[in-house]
Amino acid sequence: MPAGVQSRRAARVREVADIALAIRTENLTKIYDVGWGRQHVGIEELNLEVETGQIFGLVGPNGSGKTTTLKLLLGLIFPTSGAGEVLGEPMGDPRSKNRVGYLPEGPYFYEHLNAPELLRMYGSLFGMGGAALDARIQELLELVDMWDRRDYRIADYSRGMLQRVGVAQSLINNPDLLFFDEPTSGLDPIGAKDIREVILRLRGEGKTVFLCSHLLKEMEPICDNIAILSRGRLVTEGSVAELLRGDRLRYRLELREPDEELLAKLQGNAEEVLWLEETCRLLFADRQAAFDAAAQAEDEGGYVLAAGPDRRTLEEVFIDAVGEVSVDASDL
Ligand SMILES: Nc1ncnc2c1ncn2[C@@H]1O[C@H](COP(=O)(O)OP(=O)(O)OP(=O)(O)O)[C@@H](O)[C@H]1O
Ligand SMILES: [Mg+2]
Repeated sequence: MPAGVQSRRAARVREVADIALAIRTENLTKIYDVGWGRQHVGIEELNLEVETGQIFGLVGPNGSGKTTTLKLLLGLIFPTSGAGEVLGEPMGDPRSKNRVGYLPEGPYFYEHLNAPELLRMYGSLFGMGGAALDARIQELLELVDMWDRRDYRIADYSRGMLQRVGVAQSLINNPDLLFFDEPTSGLDPIGAKDIREVILRLRGEGKTVFLCSHLLKEMEPICDNIAILSRGRLVTEGSVAELLRGDRLRYRLELREPDEELLAKLQGNAEEVLWLEETCRLLFADRQAAFDAAAQAEDEGGYVLAAGPDRRTLEEVFIDAVGEVSVDASDL
């Protein structure tokens, strides 16, 4: 594990010592045997901690181990080594199953049923029935905006409709912990926004949501914490704010093509100067220095485009983190 990840983890472990954890894994490893002596790495030595009541995002490129992690936590597959706990029980333990909901990647359901029949079937698996189950079914189909289309057979659903009913299915038992694998896959922008709102609402009710996705733009605004996987290994993790800030927060001033004289005056106080096409970005150690430079640039006829905290996007963090690993791997 990179040193930065280790020190952030140590700090966070101290911070969360008194906070209940919904999920914890310890050196969790899954190596798939694919025959003829060949193996695929699912995940390796994964250590994760997910606090109760948060939206936790597991992100990574295709094949980086997101679904593998989720299936291990659900007890659908077994680890090669390492361990994990879900809601205080060993992962896969039947005692936590009633408190967990799961939306699989590309859900598949019995095609001859309609949505209420499907949800009734899932409800009965949790011992639910009668008027209480009927009320729950209506509540959930309204939540995912499928109540008006409740008579359609699943065979006639669009991909997005299937995904919406999948979300309803995962909530039937009113679980405390939700596992969503690519929940907005196949949804149009409105559908994706609806699902994000459902996720935020679940957090508002005190539930924990474990999300797998590679749609970084969707994860950035809703996740509390994010872990980035690459080739089965954790490459970085932290709160979204921490990850976007980097090791320390700097302040930026962006100018449109400042002349040489102005730039010479400003760059003395800057830590770094970068050119992005016609935009000149100066990075300062503190806010005052950036704002003083912005005022000076304005006074001297410069064109100030922006000034403020130098936050990266999650996409930049991701590319940095995943890129580093690719370089490490090619060095082996
Ligand atoms: N049943 C399996 N048998 C063999 N190898 C597998 C199996 N399932 C996953 N793998 C391998 O494990 C690795 C991780 O796969 P996984 O499905 O966990 O990735 P992912 O991050 O969910 O990817 P995606 O974004 O494409 O859904 C891949 O190299 C994959 O080939
Ligand atoms: Mg997957």
